[in-house]
Amino acid sequence: MFSVYTPLFKLHSIPSSVSLHLSASPCEYSISLLFFFFHPLMYSAMSSVAGHAGSIRRTFGSQKLLKTENIWLLNPQFAGAAIIPSSLKDKEEIYFFFSEFNKTARVDEEPYRARIGRICMVDEGGIKALLENSWTTFMKARVMCGSGNTQQQYNNMKQAVVLTAQDKRTGVMYGLFSNAWGRNVICAYSIEDIDQAFSTSKLKSYSSPFISSRPGMCVRKNSTAGGPNDIKNLGVIRYHPEIEDVIRPVGVSPLDLPTDDQITHTVADIVLAVNDEHYSVLYLGTDQGKVLKVLHSSEGVFIISQYSLFHNEGPVLNMAIDSQKGHLYVGTAMEIQRLPLADCGRYGDSCRECILSRDPYCGWDRARRKCVAIPPGYNDTTGEVMVQSNTSIFLPCPVRSFHATYRWEKDNCIKNYPCLFSGDFCILGPVVDTPLKEGVFRCMATEDGFKVEVISFRLVNNGRLLAASLASTVGLSLLLAVATLWLH
Ligand SMILES: *[C@@H]1O[C@H](CO)[C@@H](O)[C@H](O)[C@H]1NC(C)=O
Ligand SMILES: *[C@@H]1O[C@H](CO)[C@@H](O)[C@H](O)[C@H]1NC(C)=O
Ligand SMILES: *[C@@H]1O[C@H](CO)[C@@H](O)[C@H](O)[C@H]1NC(C)=O
Ligand SMILES: *[C@@H]1O[C@H](CO)[C@@H](O)[C@H](O)[C@H]1NC(C)=O
Repeated sequence: MFSVYTPLFKLHSIPSSVSLHLSASPCEYSISLLFFFFHPLMYSAMSSVAGHAGSIRRTFGSQKLLKTENIWLLNPQFAGAAIIPSSLKDKEEIYFFFSEFNKTARVDEEPYRARIGRICMVDEGGIKALLENSWTTFMKARVMCGSGNTQQQYNNMKQAVVLTAQDKRTGVMYGLFSNAWGRNVICAYSIEDIDQAFSTSKLKSYSSPFISSRPGMCVRKNSTAGGPNDIKNLGVIRYHPEIEDVIRPVGVSPLDLPTDDQITHTVADIVLAVNDEHYSVLYLGTDQGKVLKVLHSSEGVFIISQYSLFHNEGPVLNMAIDSQKGHLYVGTAMEIQRLPLADCGRYGDSCRECILSRDPYCGWDRARRKCVAIPPGYNDTTGEVMVQSNTSIFLPCPVRSFHATYRWEKDNCIKNYPCLFSGDFCILGPVVDTPLKEGVFRCMATEDGFKVEVISFRLVNNGRLLAASLASTVGLSLLLAVATLWLH
C-alpha cells in the first residue's frame, strides 16, 4: 500500500539523530510517515489514515521489534520525533510529537489534542501474557500552547523540532501549532520540564501507590523480569499510559513574533557563538514564501533577518537544515532554494551593523574589517590562569568610559554581579556566592541604552583548580555579534 515515497528533497548527510519527514505521497490522501534512523535501529511513526490506527514502532534492528497498542493513540498525526540523550546509555529516550483527533467530538468541542509520547530505547517489550510485542515504557502527555488557561489554545501540533545538548537532558522543543481558525503560532518547551513531568507526574485515572518502582522507567530487562511486581507495573502502563501533568510552554504563551505572515514550516539550529555560549536560531517559512531567521533566548525573540527567496509567492511547504555543511533548504510547491546559515555578508561592512544584526553565526573580523562567519572550532584560550577553587578570583574588565555602567553577568544573564572599580579596571571580586562556580562571566558596559560586551572569561572547574580563560572578544580578532546590544 505504501509503496512510493518521494521526499521533497534529500540532504547529503543526515546526522543519525535527525528525523526526515516524508510527506509527499503518490496517493490522493496525504500520508505522514516519519522515519527515524538511529543506526543500527530504525523507529517509525505512522499517522492514522483511512482504516489504519497509526502507531509508533521499532521496525528494524537487533532489538525486539515493538509497537504501540491501538488504544494508546487516538487517530494520531505525527509532527516530529527526537532522541533525548542521557549520559547514561540505558536512560536514552525518544520523544514523539503528534496531535490526536477525536472524530466524535461535538461541533462545539475542540477535536485536536497536542501530545508528546515517549519510549525508552532499552525497551524490550513485556511478557507473554502482557505487552509481549508492545512498548512497556510508552507514556504520553498533553501539550498546551496558548496563554494561560484562556480559551485561546492552539491544539493542533503540526510540526515539532528539538534542540538538545550532545549528551545532556537539556534543551528546547519548538512546536508549530494551529487553532480552529487556522491561525499558526510557535510555542517553545523546556526538555527539562518534559523530562520532569514524565519522571514524577501522577498517571491519569490511577491513584494507587506504585509498587517497588515507578512503571515505565528506562531499565534494561533482565532474567528476573516477570515477577509479580513487574506484571503489576506492566498492567499500570497498559491501562494508564497518560500522565496527569500538562506540558506548558516556556514564557507561558506562544512566541511573540512580529510578523503578519502565517508560519507554515519551522526548523531550528543551535549555534555556538564566539563567546562560547549556545544560541537557538529558528528558521520560519511563511505562507508568503518568506523565511524569517529568529534568535530565541530567555529574553524572547528577535528577528535577525528576513528573506524573500522565490519568484512566485507561495507558501513555504518544506525546509531542511544541514548544520554540518551550513545550509538551509527551502521548498515551495514550485521551487527549491538553498541558503547559507552564516550569511554574514548581508550585514554590511561596518562593525556596528555586524554587531547589531545579533546573528550568532557571524562576528566582526577586526583585521579584515569584515562581517564574517565564525570559523569552525574557533576557540581562543589565551591568558589562562589557575587558582584554587575555594579562593576568590579577580576577573579584570578594562574600563574605557567612565560614563558607562559596568556589570558582570554569568551564563546568559541568569546571574548578575557588581563590578568593583580599581584603577583602570573593574573587577569581579569576592562576591556573595563565592567560591565562583563554573561558567562564562561577561563584563557588560551600558551607555546611552547600548549594552556592549567588553570582555568575558570562562571558568572551568578542573578538579580542585578553577581555570579562567578569556572566552572571547576584545583584543582578539572576532567581536561578538550576538546578545551584545539590546535594542529598546
Ligand atoms: C470524543 O468526544 C466525545 C464527545 O464529546 C466524547 O464523548 C469522547 O469521550 C471523546 N473521546 C475521547 C477518546 O476522548
Ligand atoms: C533485574 O532487575 C531488577 C528490577 O527490575 C533489579 O532489582 C535487579 O538488580 C536486576 N538484576 C540484575 C542482575 O541486573
Ligand atoms: C575551548 O578550549 C577550552 C580549553 O582547551 C575547552 O575546555 C573548551 O571546551 C573549548 N571550547 C570549544 C567550544 O571547543
Ligand atoms: C581551600 O582548600 C584547600 C585544599 O582543599 C585547603 O587546604 C584550604 O584550607 C582551603 N581554604 C579555605 C579558605 O577554605
